Amino acid sequence: MNTLKRTLLASALALLSLPVMADAAHPKIGFSIDDLRLERWSRDRDYFVAAAEKMDAKVFVQSADANEQKQISQIENLISRGVDVIVIVPFNATVLTNAVAEAKKAGIKVVSYDRLILNADIDAYISFDNEKVGEMQAKGVLHAAPKGNYFLLGGAPTDNNAKVLREGQMKVLQPAIDKGDIKIVGQQWVKEWNPTEALSIVENALTRNNNKIDGIVASNDATAGGAIQALAAQQMAGKVPISGQDADLAAVKRVIDGTQTMTVYKPLKLIASEAAKLSVQLARNEKPTYSSQYDNGSKKVDTILLTPIPLTKDNIDLLEKDGFYTKAQIAGQ
Ligand code: GAL
Repeated sequence: MNTLKRTLLASALALLSLPVMADAAHPKIGFSIDDLRLERWSRDRDYFVAAAEKMDAKVFVQSADANEQKQISQIENLISRGVDVIVIVPFNATVLTNAVAEAKKAGIKVVSYDRLILNADIDAYISFDNEKVGEMQAKGVLHAAPKGNYFLLGGAPTDNNAKVLREGQMKVLQPAIDKGDIKIVGQQWVKEWNPTEALSIVENALTRNNNKIDGIVASNDATAGGAIQALAAQQMAGKVPISGQDADLAAVKRVIDGTQTMTVYKPLKLIASEAAKLSVQLARNEKPTYSSQYDNGSKKVDTILLTPIPLTKDNIDLLEKDGFYTKAQIAGQ
């Protein structure tokens, strides 16, 4: 059937809102994202769409604005649109079992992007090694404050990454705790990775500990930003080492001016283009190359794991070399 006839048929079926037949040459990919309000995800989206379109795929992006019911109905909508693959950044890793099962029943492949969907029949998972990110965060703070009282500012309790980051952090911190060099005086998960939530958590922690906090292991830049606001209110910003991840622009500036000790750079163009390639391969029933497997509670999931890069003031210029930011952006113009 030539292209014109196929296009006419596809548009006729679409008008009847019947699932359009899969067209491997021009795969349709749904991209369901937890929350585009957090800086990094709009970049993931843009890189993903650009890479997928270069491979003749069409991408339908949906943002759930950190609402699990909204994400579930958006996934159901993508299923009824007859996409070939759905790529998901889950808001809540534990509530997508049925939505994924529905997609699979419709012959749609499902990819877990950056965060692992638990207890679901997903086809693949692609992320950075989050345990290594956690180790880097703890090492960064421990290097700057080898002794004293520590507060652990976790990620969203709904995000499996938050748990894996904490496992990596504790692998580094535990020996220092056992030696009595550091003491964990408090720890809290931060709902939706929300900076305002992080601000009030750290305000309370400072009050409860009479400002005697010597290090904060924060699990991403947005929450580190909230924590640093709380420190600044006590004239402590720049005096208490604090970690992050994502190389958000505001965090890069904080690392340069010394109020944030380090961040972790995860080349988003890499994960997004690798995910686009993976999705197109799955749509075309080709065999992607995986680096490992992760158990998500119901199966061993084929996984592509990428390498994160710790950044401090000494190597922050990597971001400009990598084209992640321009000199002007970093200089704040
Ligand atoms: C995590 C992700 C991090 C962090 C957070 C906020 O799952 O791995 O990059 O920024 O979400 O979106």
